[in-house]
Amino acid sequence: MDFNSTCKDKKKSVDQSILLCCKFFISESRNIAVLDAIERAARLNPETVIVNKFEDRAYNRARYTLVSYVMHDCTGSAIYSPLQQTVVSMAEAAFNAINLELHDGAHPRLGVVDDIVFHPLARASLDDAAWIAKAVAADFGNLFNVPVYLYGAAHPTGKALDIIRRELGYYRPNFMGSQWAGWSLSEILPLNPDEGPVTVSRAKGISMIGARPWIALYNIPILSTNVSAARRIARKVSARGGGLPTVQTLGLVHGEDSTEIACMLLEPNQIGADRVQNRVEMLAAQEGLDIEKGYFTDFSPEMVIEKYMNLISANNRS
Ligand SMILES: *[C@@H]1O[C@H](CO)[C@@H](O)[C@H](O)[C@H]1NC(C)=O
Repeated sequence: MDFNSTCKDKKKSVDQSILLCCKFFISESRNIAVLDAIERAARLNPETVIVNKFEDRAYNRARYTLVSYVMHDCTGSAIYSPLQQTVVSMAEAAFNAINLELHDGAHPRLGVVDDIVFHPLARASLDDAAWIAKAVAADFGNLFNVPVYLYGAAHPTGKALDIIRRELGYYRPNFMGSQWAGWSLSEILPLNPDEGPVTVSRAKGISMIGARPWIALYNIPILSTNVSAARRIARKVSARGGGLPTVQTLGLVHGEDSTEIACMLLEPNQIGADRVQNRVEMLAAQEGLDIEKGYFTDFSPEMVIEKYMNLISANNRS
């Protein structure tokens, strides 16, 4: 028996233990009609589930956490996931409804669909996550004419998100010293994108699309409006500033009377939220500032899987 024919004949079936998680970050949270339109686009495909949603009005930014399965051919390569079409439909709704030129907020961003990251869940691999990131990136270039930068496992040399963002000037506020508004860079990008044109539409901006092992997102409020102090603390707690390894931070204005340290924990099982909380508390005390207990902006991977399983079986029953 020849291997190829065996391979071809093999029936593929959905395996609900090989899952991908997508975190979809958009530059809007204040306009409910826009979020509704994006959610309606997501719901067109019942095989993909919105497991969580996080909105921040001060940042004018929202994040959806989505999950679906991924299928492989008999050689083990990923070939299909319902997530791809869902993410593209959500992006289409976002590009139709959001104009980056009219957007402002207290969180950095360079696009209407600012960032999409895929994480493997359960028995899926990082290669599966990289496969879908590249497929979605190609769709962005072809369908929306939006420049895309790939990162992490989706990038040929594994380039990290923060490196690309820094090269593009992502972290520099362009409005009132601590805010971001409109498209602030040249329309000709300083760095060639991996997909799409080198010239940007100011209304859409650019998108980052990557694949990575799980990242925990943890924010710590500081009871002070002094953003220079928040930035100093953020820098000192971060790996880049010689603080905790695998921790990335941003010190941001957060509403009328506080600031916040937004943290990405790249290895949450090694350096977790408790370590970051303690370090920020110590550094804030040195500046004479009080902080609050931080909060995760999303569920743990175990909870994400559990929610997906519950929601998908509820969908199948209805
Ligand atoms: C903000 O904090 C810095 C220390 O990081 C301090 O030098 C400065 O005076 C503070 N500004 C205000 C307005 O309190």
